[in-house]
This record gives sequence, C-alpha cells and structure tokens, in this order.
Amino acid sequence: MLPILKNDEIAPNIFEMVIEYPRLAQKAQPGHFVIVMSDTEVSERIPLTIADFDRKAGTLTLVIMAIGTSTRKLVRLKAGEKLPTMIGPLGHASELKNFGTVMMVAGGVGTAPVYPIARALREKGNRVISIQGARTKELLFWTEKLSAVSEEHIITTDDGSAGRKALVTEPLREILETKSKEIGCVYMIGPAIMMKFCAQTIVPFGVKGVASLNSVMIDGTGMCGGCRVTIGKDTKFTCVDGPEFDASLIDWDILLARQKMYCEEEKCSLNHYICNT
Ligand code: FES
Repeated sequence: MLPILKNDEIAPNIFEMVIEYPRLAQKAQPGHFVIVMSDTEVSERIPLTIADFDRKAGTLTLVIMAIGTSTRKLVRLKAGEKLPTMIGPLGHASELKNFGTVMMVAGGVGTAPVYPIARALREKGNRVISIQGARTKELLFWTEKLSAVSEEHIITTDDGSAGRKALVTEPLREILETKSKEIGCVYMIGPAIMMKFCAQTIVPFGVKGVASLNSVMIDGTGMCGGCRVTIGKDTKFTCVDGPEFDASLIDWDILLARQKMYCEEEKCSLNHYICNT
C-alpha cells in the first residue's frame, strides 16, 4: 500500500497524483512507465508513463486522465489514502544523448511524460523546442514547467483559445522547413492519431522520430501479448520492447484499430460504474 501525498485536478478531468515510493523513485528514468491498480487485487491494471520523480523525496508523479472506470476510481483517491498496487519501473528508458536540437511534441495529457524527457535532454546539452497542443485552453497544464526546460515553447489549441489556432503538426512542419538540418530528433507523445500525423509530417525531412505508445496492456511483462504492435516487419511488445519506437516504422492503423477493440466493454463497464456510484 503506497501513500498518496497529493491528488489534485490540474485541468478538467486531469489529475496530478504524487505517490511516496522511494525504491521506485530511485530507479525511475524518463520514458519508463508503471502499472497501477485502483482498488482491489483483481481490478484493472492501468499503464501510466511516469510524469516525474523526485529521488530525494522518494516520490513519483503520475498524471491521470479520468476517462474510463479504472481511471475514475483512481482519481477519486485522496491525499492521505493509499494506492493498493504499483509495479515498475517498466519498459525501456528514453535514449538520452546530445542530439543537438530536439523537438518535443506533446498532445493533451502527453505533456506529462514529455516533460521529464525534455528536462533530461536539456541537461544533456540539447536545445529543446517544444510544441504543446490541446483541444482548448482549459486542457493545457504544466505549460510553465515545459516552457522552463525549452528554448522555444509553442502552444497550439484546436479552437484558438490559447496560443496558435492550429494542430501541432503545423508548427512542426514550419520549423522543419527552416531548420531540419539542426534537428537531431523529434519526440512525440499524445493520442495515437496525433503521433501518426506527426510521424507522417517528419518523413519528408528525414529526421529521426520517436513515439511513445499507449497500447492496451494487461501484465506489462511480455507474457500476454495484449500490447503487441507492428514495427516494420516485426511484432513487438510495447511493455518490454518499448514504449518508445521509431515513429517511421510503426503501423499506426493497426495500433489505432487495436486501441478500439474493447470500446464496447469499456462503455459497459463505465455505465455500470456510473449507475452504482
Ligand atoms: S502487456 Fe502483456 S505482453 Fe505487454
């Protein structure tokens, strides 16, 4: 049982949870993820990319969007209560080296996992250009944090309520048109459809792209096959081979189709949960 130190709503339906777990905080690296369970030992296992960690304080930060039954249960836990289960760190950490200039593209709740990677890449001497997109102003969070670790920080919203009225791919393309030779890598984290179009945007420029995938997961240890993705000609498991992959090799259509596989069951579960709470 892990003490929850904070669980605050930082944007509509988006919560920042800080958990005390010194052993895990010691081992966490940018890019790693954890699997948590919201209540009992038989509840759903939820994969969440680590949004931040503090080795000194022994804490771990997760940013959770409450969309399904399990995430709704999770965000109802209050500071002072305990999280029953968390395993991790899982997956491979991000490749942290000096690329020269890196672009970090964050969509929606993807801002959370982008932040520690951007910070670590800056510490490695990279010049960081970040693009942070959301549907609307209210859904933006951690803008100051991300801006503080970026030389250039561009905000886009679908409705123009903050920053530029555009999709993240527009400033991405414009920057690549003028500076592609300087850009050593483009990181992208957000909804799969956003990452798919970011990956397509960078192809003509021949710049390396890295996407962190949010596949359906069950065990998180490479045993169930639930998180399988097609990378080039190979089948890979997001939990043990990823979660980051070369964006140009990902079969996005298979990923998008697999993400929708349990929509009906999810709806059913959520209806049941809403009716009983
Ligand atoms: S979650 Fe089961 S193999 Fe990856």
